[in-house]
Amino acid sequence: MGLTHIRLPKNFNLDERLERYADAIETNAPALAGRWAEACWPLEPQREDARAAYAEVHLDLGCGKGSFIAQCAHRKPEALHLGMDVEPICIAYAAQRACEERLRNMVLIPRGADALPQLFAAGELFAITLNFPTPYPKRHHARRRLVNVDHLLGFRQLLAPGGTVTLRTDSQPLWEYAKSQFPAAGYEMLWISDDVRAEHPEFPETEYERRLTEKGAHVYGICATPGPAPDDARIQEGRDAEQSLMRYLPDDLFSLDYVPLGMEAAVENFRNRERKGKKRIPGE
Ligand SMILES: C[S@@+](CC[C@H](N)C(=O)[O-])C[C@H]1O[C@@H](n2cnc3c(N)ncnc32)[C@H](O)[C@@H]1O
Repeated sequence: MGLTHIRLPKNFNLDERLERYADAIETNAPALAGRWAEACWPLEPQREDARAAYAEVHLDLGCGKGSFIAQCAHRKPEALHLGMDVEPICIAYAAQRACEERLRNMVLIPRGADALPQLFAAGELFAITLNFPTPYPKRHHARRRLVNVDHLLGFRQLLAPGGTVTLRTDSQPLWEYAKSQFPAAGYEMLWISDDVRAEHPEFPETEYERRLTEKGAHVYGICATPGPAPDDARIQEGRDAEQSLMRYLPDDLFSLDYVPLGMEAAVENFRNRERKGKKRIPGE
């Protein structure tokens, strides 16, 4: 399910854009695995900097049009900020931002999460951020969710000691589901919040965050760090958890004053069934 509804300007030419902003896009990302911090350090002969590498590498996975990562790059110039997205239009917009704002410490990778093991060495990432990840509400799409136990196990390999994974979402069902998946992948929760904007205002706003909070969304979040590796039984608990996000909706759907992104049609359908006195169809 694609949730990236981007209104394109007239005469938008994707190839031309990708070429114009190519300086901020890394198309041969596997070649940099294990040496991102050094390889992306700007070569400026006049700069007598004792350091020749970024101090930390941060990854914004599913970065969208790059608003969040650009703000992070401004705020933390000593870190390299990588934005990954499967959608080339998003990469083009994010790269435009990096170029126009002269952010040398912001680099875009046009790849999906499945490529992560080829792109980074063990322990290379200081932080992975999942901002409003595509929720994939249906049971049979659960493995695509970036907070699925198997994705989280993969992230563990790439994180530096003390590294973190942070989820922020408008979707209470996705957040509830994630609360079962992080512990199953052996993470220790650093914080869990049902109002991230109030409790963690340090996070720059993302494009989706702005759009969804204007519609009445709350921002739910989790920040976690890998603990001891989980055993097979623990991992299985995550795989056995309820996988349909529909099941995490409240019983009284008419009490919902905000319907999470990606669940609008299903909620409308369930409400219509209820109006007609019919039961919900279980197991979406
Ligand atoms: C709902 S948007 C959120 C974008 C941005 N993080 C924000 O908060 O504005 C989800 C983004 O994740 C991207 N995405 C979905 N699945 C992905 C995957 N497996 N790997 C990388 N990006 C993915 C989509 O293309 C889309 O840009």
